Formats: sequence, structure tokens, C-alpha cells
Amino acid sequence: MHVKKDNEIVVLCIGDLIGEPGMAVLEKHLAALKKRYQADLMIVNGENSAKLGRGITAEIMGRLRELGVAVVTSGNHVWDNAKIVPYFSGNSDLLRPANYPAGCPGTGVTLVSVGEYTVGVVNILGRVFMKEITDCPFRTMQSILTYVRAQTPLIVVDFHAEASAEKLAMANFLDGHVSALVGTHVHVQTADERIFPQGTAFISDVGMVGSWFSIIGFKKESPLNMFLTQMPHRFEVSYEGPFVFNAIALTLDAITGKATDIERVQLLDHDLVLQKT
Ligand SMILES: [Fe+2]
Ligand SMILES: [Fe+2]
Repeated sequence: MHVKKDNEIVVLCIGDLIGEPGMAVLEKHLAALKKRYQADLMIVNGENSAKLGRGITAEIMGRLRELGVAVVTSGNHVWDNAKIVPYFSGNSDLLRPANYPAGCPGTGVTLVSVGEYTVGVVNILGRVFMKEITDCPFRTMQSILTYVRAQTPLIVVDFHAEASAEKLAMANFLDGHVSALVGTHVHVQTADERIFPQGTAFISDVGMVGSWFSIIGFKKESPLNMFLTQMPHRFEVSYEGPFVFNAIALTLDAITGKATDIERVQLLDHDLVLQKT
């Protein structure tokens, strides 16, 4: 494990929280992980954190804030719970993809204070194998960076996307311009973490927080039957243990904004017992 130096900050990026089990696992383990990695900033993808695994609520935002989560990113499921829409007008701690069409509520960029430093957090959606019609994520990133890089060299991007090639292309595009590009949406942690030559940390997918013997956090029966029958099925969040907690610990040089370390976090909890309420 990397030992943090005086001029470094540690950012813990946590993968998609899946429903109430995701929240329960986060609440059980986050404080210890924050301490273990000496995390200065915690970012969570919350697009599936509402009880049914679709969208997010203001109540969950409150619980996440209480846990010390500074920024919540999202993705294609951000609007699944429509009650969240008004939250975007008064708050800047929940991001929606920056490349959604102009006029949609909220923003995909925020600046947060971490001690004496400022960190820019950006949320952007991929286009490959995604049904949403969004602006080009590459050109959107380019215009965002002209603004954010004038404020700080410390920039963390959540690229919510399906295809590994698109994520790798974005990492090459952004190398040296952002501190880290972390992928979400797939709900399965990948083992391709690296630091690119110009100092940008990268992983294709952070993974998730939820039921381990599930299909991407949902009860296996529904997705399996969907594949077997090609009929539409309503996915139900899985409450079955054990549970997985996936994250990425990024160490960043606060002066240059370059990454000095990236470490995958995968914790399996065999003890937690959860009942659907
Ligand atoms: Fe997700
Ligand atoms: Fe997603």
C-alpha cells in the first residue's frame, strides 16, 4: 500500500451502489476504509442507490453526506427516480452526465475543497452500446477542461460507459490533462488499472457495492430469464450475501495534479445478513 506523502491527497472512488444492500454495505465499511487509505475525498456512483436499484433520492444523498461522501456521480439511470429532479437546483454534490443535452437539470462538473486544495470532479457518459443520445464525450471533456484546468490541476473523471475501447480511448485522450479517469456502469471491477505516461490514473471499471452472487447487483432469476426467453423482466435488487465492496484508491500529487498510485479495493463481507423490508 502506498504511503501518502505531505503533498499528496488520496481520493477513494466507490463503484455503483446497488439498492439498499449497497447502502448498508457502504455504511458498515466506509469509515474503516477511509481510515485505512487515509482518504481525503470520497466519491460514490449513486445512480442505482435508491431502494429498488433505480435512480437516487434526496434521503440517500443525506445519508451519503453523513458518511462523508463529498460528491455523488451518476449515469444513465440518474432520472429513474423523477423525485430527484428538484434536488439538482439547490445542490452541487450530485452530478449527472455532463454531455446530456443542454437544458436538462443539474451539472456534470463540480469543484470541491479538500483542505487547502481544490479538486474538480466530472461525470460523463459514453456513447458505445448506450441508448442515450448525448453530445460527444470527447469534445465535451475538451470544453470542460478549459474551464476546470484554470481552477485546479486536480481533476477526477467518472466515465460512465459500457465499452472498454471507448474508456481506453478517453484515457489516451485525457492523459496528462486530468488526474484520473475511472470507469463505472459495468458493475464488475476490472484488473486493468494503470498510470498513463503523462500521469493520468485509469481503470476501465471500479465495480459495485452490492450482492456478490447476483447479476450486477440484481437477483439472478430476472436477468437470467430475460436472456433465456427474450421477454422483458423487472430486475429486483438482490439481498443475498456475501456482499462485495469495490473501490479505487487514488493517490494524487496535489501540486502537479498527476497520479502517483492507483490501487483496487475489493472487500467481501460474509457476515452481513440483510432482509428486504
Ligand atoms: Fe449502475
Ligand atoms: Fe449505468
